Amino acid sequence: MTEKIQIEHLTLQYADGAESLRDISLNVRENAITVLFGPAGGGKSSLLRCLNRLNDLADVKTVSGKILLDGENILDPQTDVIALRRKVGMVFARPVVLPFSIYGNLTYGLEVMGEKRKLRLDEAVERSLRQAALWDEVKERLDDPAIALSGGQQQRLCLARALALEPEVILLDEPTSGLDPISTGKVEASLQELKKNYTILLAPHSVQQAARVADYAAFFLQGELVEFGEGKTLFTTPRQKRTEDYVTGRFG
Ligand SMILES: Nc1ncnc2c1ncn2[C@@H]1O[C@H](COP(=O)(O)OP(=O)(O)OP(=O)(O)O)[C@@H](O)[C@H]1O
Ligand SMILES: [Mg+2]
Repeated sequence: MTEKIQIEHLTLQYADGAESLRDISLNVRENAITVLFGPAGGGKSSLLRCLNRLNDLADVKTVSGKILLDGENILDPQTDVIALRRKVGMVFARPVVLPFSIYGNLTYGLEVMGEKRKLRLDEAVERSLRQAALWDEVKERLDDPAIALSGGQQQRLCLARALALEPEVILLDEPTSGLDPISTGKVEASLQELKKNYTILLAPHSVQQAARVADYAAFFLQGELVEFGEGKTLFTTPRQKRTEDYVTGRFG
């Protein structure tokens, strides 16, 4: 399998605090789900936000190290951040639907980028809804306001909206944190399909979810990457005592 992202000695410090990421080195494989897990404040969201330069918007004091995406360092000031964010899509914990129809939510980004052809837009809507396992539930009512969807449907709509732009990498920060078990199952199932074509990084909302979905898993504790490995090994026979204590529920 190919390495899509190589993180090398990444250190991040916000203006008002201690180091939130300390000398992180990690390779992220293509066509796999890599899970970043660990207790609150460990740096999972900070790392995800570095991967599409969303941290540019935060009050960051220093960032050092490299993040190579297809071999190019995205932390380089020359990076085209708009193009980067198109390639690296993100889905957040709380779904934020736009005040448009279901259809309009999915075509908004494409229209901003200049796509006007109805056929292309229709194709993108159907493809992305199918990929997010939402098509069957909404295909008869694409013109309804998106806000009328259930929470679980809105979350999948946000996933579909990211997919409509045909990214290569998808970042998901606790994408099922507000969802019931059935909706969570649907999102997790669609991720298993999506990984065949994408590189997926996910901060799960629980250790259980981490263990269910991880092809690879990285355990973060207070800005440090404690352990990284294949999911099935890491959750059953962790090498580090701190990982073991966390996955067995000794602290959390
Ligand atoms: N925008 C910000 N400005 C200043 N400090 C921040 C910012 N975002 C995060 N931090 C700090 O960085 C550290 C790591 O936070 P981060 O949100 O990345 O952790 P996390 O692992 O995602 O936690 P959680 O499980 O609660 O989501 C924390 O100490 C947090 O207070
Ligand atoms: Mg977080």
